[in-house]
Amino acid sequence: MEEATQGSSRLSGFAETVAQAKERVAHTATETKIEAINFNFYYGAFQALRNINIRIPQNRVTAIIGPSGCGKSTFLRAINRMHDRTPGARGEGQLLLGGANIYGDIDPVKLRRRVGMVFQRPNPFVKSIYENVAYGLRVQGVNNRRVLDETVELALRRAALWDEVKDRLHRRPVRRSPAGSSSASALHARLRLIQKWF
Ligand SMILES: Nc1ncnc2c1ncn2[C@@H]1O[C@H](COP(=O)(O)OP(=O)(O)OP(=O)(O)O)[C@@H](O)[C@H]1O
Ligand SMILES: [Mg+2]
Repeated sequence: MEEATQGSSRLSGFAETVAQAKERVAHTATETKIEAINFNFYYGAFQALRNINIRIPQNRVTAIIGPSGCGKSTFLRAINRMHDRTPGARGEGQLLLGGANIYGDIDPVKLRRRVGMVFQRPNPFVKSIYENVAYGLRVQGVNNRRVLDETVELALRRAALWDEVKDRLHRRPVRRSPAGSSSASALHARLRLIQKWF
């Protein structure tokens, strides 16, 4: 606790100190961010999720643990509507984000701006490291070079990748680091779904 408070004074140049963040989280942590109500998920005739009822609070780290094949990834992908283009895949019941129905009220592109997903395996586009990280901003119409340069550098620094890649930003990435983490960081997604980082 003390360390965190001392740390916050060193971080005083940042928009929000550790102490301020703690105070904000203390006020909001009990609010439900995601809620599944009798949620089922099917791949064709195969039912992968059965009657899921869960409330996930905001500003908390929630882990889903279970044996291989029990449906963890299916559930995470459902939150982000990543199954939309999988033939035969469909959800049933309710899946809510901030009270709005993910499969009804929310536009999938807007949904994915709010909900970031970091995959277990990096899956970079066939583009440079720079363009992979900048992609999320580009699809939102951000093309200002200075903004892109600064955001790409910040995202890579946050993902502890900057020193490793700063001299080859405009070359294609080697499959090693979780590229998704820096793209997600560039997007400042409010909610991050992380698939097995350990
Ligand atoms: N695209 C798909 N089409 C058909 N069945 C699928 C598809 N994706 C997953 N499944 C099936 O749905 C079930 C749940 O799979 P899922 O990948 O969600 O499990 P998981 O808990 O993430 O497993 P793991 O720990 O191995 O990652 C499994 O029986 C799997 O074979
Ligand atoms: Mg999985």
